[in-house]
Amino acid sequence: MGPPGAGKGTQAKRLVEKFGMDHLSSGDIFRAERASGSKLGQELAEYMDAGKLVPDELVVRIMAKAVAESDAAGGLMLDGFPRTVPQARALDEQLESADVGLDAVVLITASPDAIVERITGRRSCGKCGKAYHVKFMPPAKDGVCDSCGAKLLQRKDDTQPVVRQRLESYAAQTKPVIEYYRNRKKLKMIEIDGDKSPDNVTRDLIGALKGLCARV
Ligand code: AP5
Repeated sequence: MGPPGAGKGTQAKRLVEKFGMDHLSSGDIFRAERASGSKLGQELAEYMDAGKLVPDELVVRIMAKAVAESDAAGGLMLDGFPRTVPQARALDEQLESADVGLDAVVLITASPDAIVERITGRRSCGKCGKAYHVKFMPPAKDGVCDSCGAKLLQRKDDTQPVVRQRLESYAAQTKPVIEYYRNRKKLKMIEIDGDKSPDNVTRDLIGALKGLCARV
């Protein structure tokens, strides 16, 4: 969990690569659906481009299917989901009926100034999805992915006005989820300072997760 631009996607990708877990990013799943040109994708795009949360009923339907179909044998990293209390409840029900539980909830924090600079400078590969930042994590060749050579793109919702709306949605609808998990006695809530460099955030995350997750 964490506000837009905190580094959830960057860190999730590093951890799943290192520890061989499956990674489910709700944002990536929704972007893939919109790229397919489907009617559902068009519906998702309306909310995403406005910086608003996609309605719970749609999110739960899409994410429940993704969780059920994931290869969670080596562990599952959920990134960007759940983002409202009803989504968290729906996930609890699904996990309970599959007789599995959450090991930990990670909250990555970041200051508002860092968030705006990170989001407006973010670029990602249109083909393999690798994330970059024009200043903090630039590719070797301007505008070109180091991994697959495809063109780097800027997300439609990575503009200042949309970021403001995304931050409002986070404060109103996602912050209550932090309390929801904090109140769960048996669940470890880990808070990580996302204002540090990407490598230091990764180091802190691995340190905090050691012993909590089977793979780490
Ligand atoms: P989503 O794609 O999840 O966007 P988000 O939560 O706004 O998060 P971001 O992807 O912007 O940020 P991040 O924390 O992953 O940061 P990143 O690692 O990329 O969701 C998009 C939209 O989909 C939502 O607005 C909503 O409409 C919809 N949606 C998704 N899930 C939903 C749900 N569950 N319910 C309802 N609606 C939903 O890093 C950002 C940049 O900073 C990158 O350029 C990176 O290179 C750089 N960077 C990262 N870490 C550092 C660091 N430590 N120092 C310097 N730079 C850094």
